[in-house]
Amino acid sequence: MARITVNVDGIRFEEEVEPRLLLVHLLRDRLGRTGTPIGCDTSNCGACTVLLDGKTAKSCAVLAVQADGCDIGTVEGLADGGRRHPVQDAFHEEHALQCGYCTPGMIMAAIDLLRTDPHPSEEAIREGLEGNLCRCTGYQNIVRAVRRAAAAMSASVSVNGEQAAAREVPA
Ligand code: FES
Ligand code: FES
Repeated sequence: MARITVNVDGIRFEEEVEPRLLLVHLLRDRLGRTGTPIGCDTSNCGACTVLLDGKTAKSCAVLAVQADGCDIGTVEGLADGGRRHPVQDAFHEEHALQCGYCTPGMIMAAIDLLRTDPHPSEEAIREGLEGNLCRCTGYQNIVRAVRRAAAAMSASVSVNGEQAAAREVPA
């Protein structure tokens, strides 16, 4: 057994784990983060995608011991109080899901994509999400949702930027 420490959605956990335990099983079975689903047994579908130190990782392809000392973000940590993350809102507004099984991973992948490319083209969105499979939607509304989220996030940055600039103006 190995002793590891992980920060999951801002909460610190210390766990004794078997070296073969997968991160997705640590999250779901030990830490109760069942919002991160398992969609395949081939590390192919992306449903289990989380943010590992801010970057996407398929949690079924990472050992829990490899996450020792890391910050892990799951879909369950996105909402700020009662307010959904803008990417969650955009998926809702654009009806970017049907069964919803791919959605947590798709949202985490979209957040990482928008971190590195805040104004992605349709092609960049399709490329950025190519590691996440959806059996239901045909992807069209998912692409629309990511574009909508990009617009909402850049509008909020510019509002906050203006507010910050206003605060800096001497009275
Ligand atoms: S469950 Fe991890 S990639 Fe499918
Ligand atoms: S909404 Fe069903 S797999 Fe994507």
